[in-house]
Amino acid sequence: MVNSATEDSVTFEPDLPDVYGDAQPKELLRTIIEDHEQLRTLANRHVIESGQFDRALMLQLFRLAAKYECNPERFNSPLAGKLLISAFYEPSTRTRLSFESAWHRLGGDIMSIADRSSTGIAKGESYADVAEMFNNYGDCVVLRDSDPDAVFEMARHLRIPIINAGNGIMEHPTQALADVYTMLKWRPELLKEDPEPIRIGVVGVPKRMRTVRSLLTLLSRFSDVIKEVVVISDRPADTAFADGQLEALEEDGLNVRLTNDLDGELPELDVVYINAIAWVKNAREVMGNAFRLNDKSPLKEDAIILHPLARGPELDVSLDATPHNWYFAQARGAVFVRKALLTCMTRRTERVMDVV
Ligand code: CP
Repeated sequence: MVNSATEDSVTFEPDLPDVYGDAQPKELLRTIIEDHEQLRTLANRHVIESGQFDRALMLQLFRLAAKYECNPERFNSPLAGKLLISAFYEPSTRTRLSFESAWHRLGGDIMSIADRSSTGIAKGESYADVAEMFNNYGDCVVLRDSDPDAVFEMARHLRIPIINAGNGIMEHPTQALADVYTMLKWRPELLKEDPEPIRIGVVGVPKRMRTVRSLLTLLSRFSDVIKEVVVISDRPADTAFADGQLEALEEDGLNVRLTNDLDGELPELDVVYINAIAWVKNAREVMGNAFRLNDKSPLKEDAIILHPLARGPELDVSLDATPHNWYFAQARGAVFVRKALLTCMTRRTERVMDVV
C-alpha cells in the first residue's frame, strides 16, 4: 500500500533546533587565542592516532572549527583545486559523509571508493602500489579499513596526507577530536581560569572500541579539568583495557576508575559518553548493551550525553528532545572539526587565518 501524503507529512520546520548549544562556538572562539604556528605543524603529516595531538594543537584546531561553525557561509573556497580520495571499506554514515561534506563545502572535489573489491586490492594489488597511484590522483586520502595495519602501510608509501577514519578496533582520532570539541563548546569555561572540574562517564570497552580508545587519549590532554573518568563496563579491568592502556592514561594524569554500576554513577556525571558496538572485521560486535539510557535515567539536570552513533537500544530516542541530547550536536560539529583539519593538512591554512 502506498501512503498518501498529507499536509503534515510534506511540510517541515527548517529553523527547528536539532541540537543544543548553538551559541557556544562563539564563546569557544573568543576563549582561544589564535596561534597559526600550531596549525602549520599539520602540513606534510598524516593523522593516524589520537596520540599525535597535544592540547595546544587541539585547541587551535577547535578554534578554527569554531570559526567555521560561526561563519558557515564565509569560507567556501580554501580547498578549491584540491582533490580528496575518500576510501571507506567499512560501513559509515557520519564519518564519510561529514568528511565529504567538509571537503565539498570548502570548495574541493572528491573521488570516492566505497568498496575495496572495486580496486586492484581485489586482484591482490599491494597497499604500496595503491598508495603510489593515490599519490598521482589526489591531494589527500581519508581511509576507513577494518585492517588495522592498512593505514600504516599506505602512509609509508604516500606523499600526500592520509587520515585514519577508523582502523579496525584500534583508533578513530577525528571522532575523538569531534567529541572533545563538543565538550568544550558545551563548557568553554573549562579553558578559563579556575574552572570547576568535571566528571565524565564512558560507557564502553576501551580495549575493543576505537572511538573510546581515541577519546580517552585525548581526554588525558585535559586531565587538569577532569576530576575523574568513570569507565562503565561489565568487564573486569584486564579485559576492559588493553595491555598498558590504563597505565598510560594514568601516567598522563587522568584519574580513571572502572565500575559496572551505570545508574549508581549517573547522578554524579557531567558528561555521559555511551557506545555499545564495535565493527570487528566484517561484523557488528555488541558489547555491554545492558547499560541503557532513557529520559527516566537518573541523570544530573545539566548533564550532557554524547554517543559516536550509530546507536542501538543503549540510547533511547526519548532522550532526543531533552537538553541532555548533545549527540546530534557532536555529529554536526564533526563537519567543522574535519574542515579545520583538512584545511591545515592540505596547506591551505593561510587562507583562513585571522591575521597572517
Ligand atoms: N561515529 C562514526 O564513526 O560513525 P560512522 O560509522 O557512521 O562513520
